[in-house]
Amino acid sequence: MHYAEITGWGKCVPPAILSNDDLATFMETSDEWITTRTGIKERRICHCNFSDMAIVAANRALAAADLDPSEIDLILLGSLTNDSLCPNTASLVQDALGARNAAAIDINSACTGFLYGLHIGTNLIRTGAHKKVLVIGGEFISHYMNWSRRDVAVLFGDDCGAVVIEATDKPVGLLSARIGCEADAKYAIQITNLGSAYSRLSDEFLYIDWNFEGQEVFKRAVKSMAQACEDVLNDCNLTVDDISLVVPHQANKRILDALAKRVGIDENKVFINVHKYGNTSAGTIPVALAESLEEQRIKPGDHVLSASFGAGLTWGAAVIRWGDRVTPIRASDSELPPCNQTALEILEPHIRRYAEHG
Ligand code: ACO
Repeated sequence: MHYAEITGWGKCVPPAILSNDDLATFMETSDEWITTRTGIKERRICHCNFSDMAIVAANRALAAADLDPSEIDLILLGSLTNDSLCPNTASLVQDALGARNAAAIDINSACTGFLYGLHIGTNLIRTGAHKKVLVIGGEFISHYMNWSRRDVAVLFGDDCGAVVIEATDKPVGLLSARIGCEADAKYAIQITNLGSAYSRLSDEFLYIDWNFEGQEVFKRAVKSMAQACEDVLNDCNLTVDDISLVVPHQANKRILDALAKRVGIDENKVFINVHKYGNTSAGTIPVALAESLEEQRIKPGDHVLSASFGAGLTWGAAVIRWGDRVTPIRASDSELPPCNQTALEILEPHIRRYAEHG
């Protein structure tokens, strides 16, 4: 039986910071409301293309694993905010990396895109179909935001993360994963006015908007993630006491507190960075994983629990047993193009466009 060890990891966080106070300069909100309801203090705004973030994160993951890009045989990229409908973003990443031997697949399952990708990639390695897979998750969600919607705009941010998984005979990597979808609630999170279901002749076309039932998502997120966590722990004959760290999707601090309580895990074992980045959808878990390693929160042989939910409403959970190495083999010098604007300056034309549209 093959396993799929995580041998490389990397993150790309764009430099422009949008604070809660920045948001309060153009919408009826406050640092106090956002902090108490979500735990978010600030988020990042991308100044380039989504693929630029994906390429930097991927280069860093490849360097951490000390792999040449030509050794990668599959790229799985989780995102709903791709550069374009066609070509897919995984192709752009393949070309920029020089990963000429890799197949390139985009996965759109919103916030669960990375966990879905890790599950698919692991199982393709287990069958012997692939040997070295790059799994990327990230989002340029500020590009798809209606900046007049305070109930949605305060929640999200941009970033990207990546891991390399490689075939091994050691029993490490994803030991168990459960993924699913509560499609009866598919419209609880919906991005509208873009896509072939919307008439291009409508005046509203491309004025992207959101249906967002926050409380419904909140309740279902806690329930579905908690159930999935229990299931993957049972699959592995583990209990919460065997788990060293939980690296969950970062949507809302209150959701993470409720999840920890329901699963019965000490909240000190839950890695949290939502205060710095907000909800970056498919980017949250790979970025949190990279930061957990940077902060030495993961030790060789640790069991890590992860859980996610997102639009669809897709959900998932996984138990990962870490391998022997918790430090990168080498660093990459890959960087984003320079940014010479503040987050508010980047967003200003978009805020104005939505304000004028009414
Ligand atoms: N600033 C100030 N007031 C606000 C804001 C804001 N940014 N947004 C909403 N309000 C107001 C509302 O208008 C409402 O006012 P009213 O009582 O006068 O009508 C009041 O605050 C309370 O609103 P609620 O929606 O009841 O607030 P709640 O406590 O439920 O928190 C929140 C809202 C943070 C969205 C919460 O429901 C949540 O986190 N849900 C989970 C959503 C999520 O993270 N989903 C992630 C998946 S997204 C994806 O997959 C792409």
